Amino acid sequence: MTRHILRDDDLSPAEQAEVLALAAELKARPYSRRPLEGPKSVAVLFDKTSTRTRMSFDAGIAELGGHSIVVDSSSTQIGKGETVEDTARVMSRFVEMVVWRTYGQERVEAFARNATVPLINALTDDFHPCQVLADLQTIREHKGATAGLTLTYLGDGANNMANSLMLGGATAGMHVRVAGPEGYLPADSVVDAARRRAGETGGSVTVGTDPHAAAEGADVLVTDTWVSMGQEAEKAGRLSDLRPYQLDAEILTRSASDSIVLHCLPAYRGNEITADVLDGPRAVVWDEAENRLHAQKALMVWLLEHQ
Ligand code: CP
Ligand code: NVA
Repeated sequence: MTRHILRDDDLSPAEQAEVLALAAELKARPYSRRPLEGPKSVAVLFDKTSTRTRMSFDAGIAELGGHSIVVDSSSTQIGKGETVEDTARVMSRFVEMVVWRTYGQERVEAFARNATVPLINALTDDFHPCQVLADLQTIREHKGATAGLTLTYLGDGANNMANSLMLGGATAGMHVRVAGPEGYLPADSVVDAARRRAGETGGSVTVGTDPHAAAEGADVLVTDTWVSMGQEAEKAGRLSDLRPYQLDAEILTRSASDSIVLHCLPAYRGNEITADVLDGPRAVVWDEAENRLHAQKALMVWLLEHQ
C-alpha cells in the first residue's frame, strides 16, 4: 500500500521520531542521502501561493539528487477542470512522489486514493503537516526535546496550523493548548483525534477561549495569520474578532521565562503578533523557516524508504 502524508497523524509517534532524527542528520550533512539520484523527479503543485514551501521543496529535491517539477495548477489542466483523480493517475506515471498545496482536504484524499506514488500535503485548509515537522525540529533544537513540554497556540484555532499543531504536537508527546474566540475553535473530530494520540504519548490537548490562562507557564508560544489563504473576504471581521488573541509582550510574560516563539510565516506584524515579539530574542522563526528544508527532505527520504 502506498504511504501518503495527508495529515500529521499519518505518522505514528515512532515514525515521527524517525523523521525528526533524520531531519537533524540531514541538517548536519545535507548531501548524505541521495535517494532521488538519476535524477528521479518529484512534482510540486500549487493551488495557493507560497514562498517557503515552494523554495524548500525545490532546493530539497535537488539536494537529494532529484529533479523537481514545480508548477502552479492554474497553468495545468486541473485549472481547466481535469479531475483530481485523472491527474493523480497521470502524474503517478511520471514522477516518484507528488507534493500538493490545495484547498479542501478531500482533494488530497481523492488524489491519494488514485495515486500509485506517495503524496505529501503541502498545506490544505485543514492541515499543514510539513510545517509542524519543521516546528518540532525547531523545538527539539532549542529545548532539547518535545515530550512533556507545553505548546500554546493563540488565535485562529480552527485553521490548518492549529489542527496540525494539535495532531503533530500530541504525536510528539506535547501538552498542546489552543485558545481562540468562540467561532474560531477547532472541530471536535480533530480534537478527538489529537486526544487519542495524546493518550498514546502522554501528551494532552486543551481548548479554551482565555489567551492568558492558555499562555501561563507555556514553553512554546505559537500564532499564525488571522486571515488564511482563501479567507480574504472575511478579513475585516477576523481582524476584529481575533484582536484579543494577539501574541504581544504582555502574553509573553505569562509564559515560562525561557519560552520560545514560533510562527510559520508569513507574519503580519501588528495583527497576530507584535513586531517586538516577532523580532525579539524569544522568536526562533528563522530557524523554523530553515527547518522546512531539512524536515521535508527527511520526510521524502523516509517515504521513499517506506513504500
Ligand atoms: N509557512 C509556509 O508554508 O509558508 P509559504 O506559504 O510561504 O509556503
Ligand atoms: N494558515 C495559513 C498558513 C500559511 C502558511 C494559511 O493557510 O494561509
